[in-house]
Amino acid sequence: MSVKTLEVSTIKTLNNIAESGLNVFEKEKYNLDDRSDNPDAIVVRSYNMHEMELNSNLKGIARAGAGVNNIPIDKCTEEGICVFNTPGANANAVKEIVLTSLIASSRNLFDGMAWVKTLEGEGENVSKLVESGKKQFVGKEIKGKTLGVIGLGAIGALVANDALDLDMEVIGYDPFISVDTAWNLSRNVHRAMTIEQLYSYADYITVHVPLTGDTKGMFNKESFSLMKPDVHILNFSRGGLVNEDDMAEALETGKVGKYITDFPNEKVLKMKNAIPIPHLGASTQESEENCAIMAARQLKEFLETGNVKNS
Ligand code: MLT
Repeated sequence: MSVKTLEVSTIKTLNNIAESGLNVFEKEKYNLDDRSDNPDAIVVRSYNMHEMELNSNLKGIARAGAGVNNIPIDKCTEEGICVFNTPGANANAVKEIVLTSLIASSRNLFDGMAWVKTLEGEGENVSKLVESGKKQFVGKEIKGKTLGVIGLGAIGALVANDALDLDMEVIGYDPFISVDTAWNLSRNVHRAMTIEQLYSYADYITVHVPLTGDTKGMFNKESFSLMKPDVHILNFSRGGLVNEDDMAEALETGKVGKYITDFPNEKVLKMKNAIPIPHLGASTQESEENCAIMAARQLKEFLETGNVKNS
């Protein structure tokens, strides 16, 4: 059995797949014209596979991550290709960046740091000028504030539980929560019956849902109108969840105080108070290794026994 890696081919990924007994094509990039290897399976991270012609032998695709929006699911279903993801394997990495960004944005650290950099060339005056930053960048503590967590899967549940340890009030919303997640969720996480309830209480909102037809553009004029003024929104899920024109307007009016996003584009860069991050949510050595191990195990079991285990 052979497996091809798209851009996820870190040494660790390759080693994990190779150690699992599968033959790995050690190519850095998938060559769209070259179908001679005809692999049994492909491991992919962010590469957009929608335009890709799928080779005839292909039985499975493993996405080393949670979201599968870069994979043509309908086409795979039609052609009997099994698609896996690695739920939970990068949850800790995402949780850490969410909580870091939550505190950093609330304390104006990103803006303050960018401003200090502009003092380059001021020589002896730098230390004096730095003091004026104290007044410009007064922040807010998160203690006692309410964090709304939309989506209580592996990532959302971790964020919710750990935010309680930071002395926040936490309110979660998820219409599809699994029994396991519900069981692991602290009893101190309040559950909103409707997303509107969460919007009306939260000082900070973090979203952990996949991009689907139902969630596309869920942050829009209408949802912003239900939120508290100056709410901070963190998006480490997918850019498509946000209607960017409406977000730009909400940032302009101060309805949304800050928009922290792992999915910046040209529009986001122009937005006042947007904090752009280059899709670093899951980019830790540990998470890449966890995803690689899970993807390798799933594919090995599937290719050798036909069992489909998405965990
Ligand atoms: C995910 O969907 O889990 C992340 O986008 C993973 C990644 O950074 O590739």
